Order: sequence, then structure tokens, then C-alpha cells
Amino acid sequence: MVCGIVGVTTDEGFSQEPLGKIIKEALKKLEYRGYDSVGLAIVTNEGSLEIRKSRGMIDFVSRKLGFDSISGISGVGHTRWATHGRPSDENAHPHTDCSRRIAVVHNGIIENYKKLKEFLINEGHSFTSDTDTEVIPHLIESFKRKGYSTYEAFKKTIELLEGAYALAMIDLDEPEKIFFARKMSPLIVGLGNRSNFVASDIVAFIDYTRRVIVLTDGEIGYVTPSKVVIEKMIRKEGVITWVPIDIKSRIRSVEWSPEMASKEGYDFFMIKEIHEQPYALASTLSAVGESINEIARVLTRSERVLLLGAGTSYHATLITALLLRRYANLWAEAVIASESRWWLNALGQGDVVIGVSQSGETIDTLRGIREAKERGALTIAVTNVIESTIAREADMAVYIRAGPEIGVAATKTFTSQVALLSYLAVKTGELRGVLKPSLANEIYSALRETPNVVARILKDEEKKASVLADKMSVKNNAYYLGRGLGLPIAMEGALKMKEIAYVHAEAYPAGESKHGPIALVEKDFPVVFVILSKDEEELIKSNIEEMKARGAYAILVSPNNAEEALSLADFKFILPVQHEVASAVSYVIPLQLLAYYTAVKKGLDPDKPRNLAKTVTVF
Ligand code: M6R
Repeated sequence: MVCGIVGVTTDEGFSQEPLGKIIKEALKKLEYRGYDSVGLAIVTNEGSLEIRKSRGMIDFVSRKLGFDSISGISGVGHTRWATHGRPSDENAHPHTDCSRRIAVVHNGIIENYKKLKEFLINEGHSFTSDTDTEVIPHLIESFKRKGYSTYEAFKKTIELLEGAYALAMIDLDEPEKIFFARKMSPLIVGLGNRSNFVASDIVAFIDYTRRVIVLTDGEIGYVTPSKVVIEKMIRKEGVITWVPIDIKSRIRSVEWSPEMASKEGYDFFMIKEIHEQPYALASTLSAVGESINEIARVLTRSERVLLLGAGTSYHATLITALLLRRYANLWAEAVIASESRWWLNALGQGDVVIGVSQSGETIDTLRGIREAKERGALTIAVTNVIESTIAREADMAVYIRAGPEIGVAATKTFTSQVALLSYLAVKTGELRGVLKPSLANEIYSALRETPNVVARILKDEEKKASVLADKMSVKNNAYYLGRGLGLPIAMEGALKMKEIAYVHAEAYPAGESKHGPIALVEKDFPVVFVILSKDEEELIKSNIEEMKARGAYAILVSPNNAEEALSLADFKFILPVQHEVASAVSYVIPLQLLAYYTAVKKGLDPDKPRNLAKTVTVF
């Protein structure tokens, strides 16, 4: 469901590189989505269709099957994350029709494939895989046999599919065309020079173009090296019509550069992205302006605010809800997106629902936004990806502008989310007359300082995090404790440790830890405490003492003025004193570094943690 797809069509003179190599490089940029198999299909200069695919990682498969040496004019490529059918050479994409003249790559799930397969088998088609995808080339073949042109056959096929798909297809009969379709899985068209592209993510073709068209659900079409055709399927009372789309009005230019999507000498994307946080924050904060003030005005008029997010984005919503309640006296609650239906039925007109999602594609958050809209609430998207589905479907959208994040673990997008949403909460408090302008201004300037503070923390704490990682890398369990704004930071630190270093790290409110979790603590059990301001010191001191009395190894993330708490700790990250709102942005940095170095010391790949995908588009 988080497969990656790529399609490229080129004119003579487009590149010296063989097309196989270009597609392989594009697929490598999609590796972060998670995959078990890889493959491509290329229309060669000699006019044949070359299909090579296998289970395994891109570099290995490419070497084995010689991707780099395949020249051609157009082609499609795929990284597969198995859903229907185990990971195997046969189930790897592309899939073909009986004549092997049509090749299809697909991200998504065709829900009615069994029925379609039965029909096709009765028609005489033979299948070579267990995938749902394989019905697609056979259906196209079936329609073509009945006299339809390739594009008409493709449209007829799309009309029959139920479920989710982003598709790219080539047909030897029209070799310069890449056909595509999208429903509920992301797909972007890239407009190049003497070339055009389709891909699951802009990063796949960012080396060639920044001019894009983000496709929306129900759109279908094709590209040649010099032409783009898009139509939208409208289904009304069982009748389907196809409406042509005006291409010019849909073209957008992305700000991301190719360098932003490459490792630039770092070992992993995750550590590069951790180090990019000062720039990401500066970019986020420089864009704070009228659009976010407008959202603050909307919040001042709202009855209640519900914030939805998953994983790291949920932690950003927790901070926002705390700030809206504390600094704007507004009823605000953060809810894990997949649980939101248990809240949304109590909401309606006058309420605001904010969906926070780095990718803008997380299905749980999207579903929450859709349901909130149906109930009459005003919906707002906060995301990093322009024209992502959540951004398009919400009533209002604001972008965090953190740049592309490739590592599966969210890092720079978290701190950017927190900075932007903190500004929003404080602005709302100011507009509601709850916060004095002088205090609001004090917080704004603390937020504006965060790029510098984060740069300092990175410089001062990286070595220490790497030293502590030696200890963590041999542990199986850890607690992360905090109070107030420190709790979501502890939760985020624990999530990072779990997902990339596979240490069972659990976060708790520090005060709650003595109501059960402390039973697990024994000699040398690591407990991370997060304090954002001296105000919390007194209470958390007793929690540190309780844990230490049971033999815990106390690790403290704290401002340098919490001297008494610091004196109790076995290991300390001593951070600059800031307003607590700004500390909620910057104090997560040592915990990101700790998780990263723990993973690396365990020999793990932090960019591609097992069982995880960057974008989760399944329930
Ligand atoms: O794209 P989103 O922000 O909606 O993604 C939400 C989560 O899937 C994501 O934060 C996930 O938890 C990351 N692996 C966290 O590092």
C-alpha cells in the first residue's frame, strides 16, 4: 500500500544516461516508503518491451538484472510493499497482459480483483502472480481485443476498479505514452524538458523538474515527452462522464531543490534531517504571516477545537492543545486520528477540527477530516506537502515548509509543526485578549530564536547523545517521563527510540509513573526525564528520586537553571533556558540524536525501520 511508482517518457537527446539507470535512481528516492521487491518495464530503442523484476533491494536487484544498461524511450518502475501475495519475483511489479505488450505498476489495493480475475480467467486470460494488480493489464488487453484504443481501454478498465490506486502503464502499441490514474493513493505529474514524469512523490523526479501537477482522486490521463492530457471521472447516478482538465491552471512550482532530497554526505537521511532543523525552523517561521493569523482569527470564533494526528504529528497536536487551553483559554483537545470517530460525533457547526500530517496523506487523519466536514465543523490542514490530499480536502490549509523529509522517522517536520502551531496558539490567545501583547511578543521572539538555539543544541549535545547511545544500545526497555509540555516531548523521544532502535521505550506522565510503571524498574533501568522549565523542577525532582531509589539510571533533559534536578541525574543534557513554548520546539533534539545513535550502534538502518512506512495510507 505504500509502494512507489515511477513513469518516464523521453525525447531523443533527453539524457546520455540509459533510461534503466534513470528509473532506478528515481526508485531509490522512493525507498523510504518501504519495499520488498523492485522492477521496471522499458520500451527499448529497438521497439521491444524489456521487463525485469525481482524480490530484493534496489541496488542488489539492479546489479543482478542489469537495470543500468537498459536504454529506451519510455518506462515504468516500481518498489513493492506486499499486500496481496507474498514478496516474490512473480509478485513483483510491473505486471503484464497475456501478450506481454502492456505493463502496469500500481500502488494501492483493488478490492474487487477476485471478481474481475474470475471474469478474465473465464475469458481465457492466464495469470502469473497472486497480486490484485495483475487484473489491470488483462482488463486493458480484454478491452483492446474488443476494438478500443489503448486510452479508451485504460479508461474502461478504471471504470471497473474498486479500491485505491495510483497507476502507471505503458503499451508497446503507443510507446511514447505513459498512462496514469489516481484514486486515494498519491500521484504527481512532473513536467520536464524533452521529458515528462509521473511518480508517487515529487522527490523521484526532482533532479529533472520542479514543475508539477498534483493529481486528485478520479483523474486519469497520459503524458508524452511534449504533452500532458488529464481528464476527471464524474460518476453521477451510475453514469460516468470524463471531463477534460485545464493543465495550465494546475501547474505548480515546488521550492525543493535536488540537494534537499539527497543525503549530501551524511550517512543517513535521518541525521541529515536532524541537522537541517535550524534551516527548516527558519523557513517555517519566516512564512508565518497572514494565512496563519487568519486561522488564529477563525479559532477565536470557535466553540471547541479538536486536533487530529498520528504518531509524531499526534505529539505536535498534544502540545498545541495544551497551549490553546493554557494561553488562549480555549476548549481544545488532541486526539489520535484513528480514534477520532469516538469524538467527532459530538462536534458540529461552530467547532474547528485541525488535521496535522507531515505527508498530508495519512488515511486516519484524512478520514477524521472528512467526517468532521460532514458534521459541519470547519476543517484545517497543517501539512508539509503542497496540495496533498488532506490539504486539498480541508476548508483551509497551512504549510510548515520544512522541506522534503525522506527518513521514515519524522524529525524536522515535528519541530516545524510545533513551532508553527505554537505561534498559532499564542496568536489565538493574543486575539482573544487572554495573553497580554507583551507576553505574546516575548514568546514570538523566543520562537524566532529557536533556529539558533537548535543549532547550539546540535553542536553541544551530539557527542553526548552518541556516548549515551552506547549504554542504550544494550538495553531492551526504557521509560520517558515528563509533565505538562514535557510529556509530549517525552512521548516523541520514546517513539523515536522504539521505531528506529527497537528499544521498548514507554512514555508516561511523570506523576503517573508511581501508579504502576515503577514496578518494572530495577538496577540500571534507563529513565529519561524531560523538564522544559524550572517551574516543573520541584515536582519532577521527587519522581527522579523515586526512580533512583529503585536503582534507575536517570537521564535528564533540562534547562541549565534546574540545578537541583540536574544534581540528581546520572546523565544530563543541559540545555539553554528559554520560554517553555520555545523549549517545546528545541528540547526534543537530544532525544532524536539519542535514538539515531542507538540505532546506528546496533547496526540498524534508521532510514528504513522494519515494518514501517513513511506514509500510511491503510487503516
Ligand atoms: O505524515 P503524517 O505526519 O500524517 O504521519 C503520521 C505518522 O505515521 C508518523 O508520524 C509516524 O509515526 C512516523 N514514523 C514518526 O516518526
